[in-house]
Amino acid sequence: MSDNFKAIVINQEGENFSREIKEINKAFLGEGDVLVKIDFSDLNFKDALILNNGGKLVREFPRIPGIDFSGKVVESNSDKFNKDDDVILTGCRVGEVYHGGYSQYAKVKKEFLVKTPKGISNKEAMILGTAGFTSMLCAFAIKAREEILLGDKVNDVLVTGATGGVGSIAVMVLSKLGYNVTAVTGKVDQADTLKKLGASSIIDRKEFEGEPKLLGKSIWDGVVDTVGGNILAHAISQTKHSGIVAACGNAGGIKLNTNIMPFILRGVKLWGIDSIAVGMKRREFVWSQVNNLIDFNILNETVKVVSMNELLELFPKMLKGQLSGRIVVDVNK
Ligand SMILES: NC(=O)c1ccc[n+]([C@@H]2O[C@H](COP(=O)([O-])OP(=O)(O)OC[C@H]3O[C@@H](n4cnc5c(N)ncnc54)[C@H](OP(=O)(O)O)[C@@H]3O)[C@@H](O)[C@H]2O)c1
Repeated sequence: MSDNFKAIVINQEGENFSREIKEINKAFLGEGDVLVKIDFSDLNFKDALILNNGGKLVREFPRIPGIDFSGKVVESNSDKFNKDDDVILTGCRVGEVYHGGYSQYAKVKKEFLVKTPKGISNKEAMILGTAGFTSMLCAFAIKAREEILLGDKVNDVLVTGATGGVGSIAVMVLSKLGYNVTAVTGKVDQADTLKKLGASSIIDRKEFEGEPKLLGKSIWDGVVDTVGGNILAHAISQTKHSGIVAACGNAGGIKLNTNIMPFILRGVKLWGIDSIAVGMKRREFVWSQVNNLIDFNILNETVKVVSMNELLELFPKMLKGQLSGRIVVDVNK
């Protein structure tokens, strides 16, 4: 490998927070079992929080941010990974506690890596990234209703924050599972894109912003919520008997003002989703399902590829809810 390479480095000295693209060398990366030459990273909501001010997630500085990456193995101390293997890393607190993916190289623990499944490219792996991985975890949580209820079919599902990374991929995955998907969005002008992804109807987010009823009309067998707050409370109040609400996000706030009635009168299940502490068997299973559940020809239309420089200009828009679809970062651009 070349001695010096480029990475985004964030730093905190007293009150001063900085983020810049620096020339660094391998020694900066510290310890790890596998050295990876990174092809692509991506932008998730958590990345935007970290790039903004560390997001109270980064405790030690300087740090290379970027919670995901894909690339090729350069050196390996693990029997599982050989030179030139394509690999994916999502989450695992890389970019927070460990150096992350906004870099041309990364050195990480072998337990964090998954081999890129056959049939998908390293770019496609980052079109998904943590957002896609999480949306699949949410979709499988909803599908579990069919197993829990011994065959009762899931029909109608709701996705909130639908134009976001997790939301847009959840729309596609749920429709590929054969469900009738309704998308809640603040960007109703993007209805056509959401329909191409697989949504059959669109609800304006405004309808979900007021005070929810104790029990609303029962409509949804399953919900993927990426927003939290009143939007999640509305979704819970409209969930059918024994429905599953997969709650993974807080793009709209961390509070949840709900009541006990949907849970005791309708047996609604609120299922928290965490994409970090996921065992290797489950990780590999989720990635193995990508070929069945994702149509990259369609998803590609929602993707923008940016350089690390462009990323530093763009990320604040994510915190203001002004982005849609997925941002892929080409670290070699
Ligand atoms: N639990 C986990 O492991 C996990 C993993 C990944 C992500 N997450 C969380 O999931 C959420 C979504 O992540 P993402 O990467 O998909 O982010 P994203 O691309 O920014 O999407 C968030 C979407 O939420 C909606 N939104 C944004 N601000 C809002 C507000 N103030 N009120 C209501 N809706 C708002 C917008 O969609 P519309 O305009 O279409 O409404 C936006 O596109 C984040 O909270 C993230 O931290 C959690």
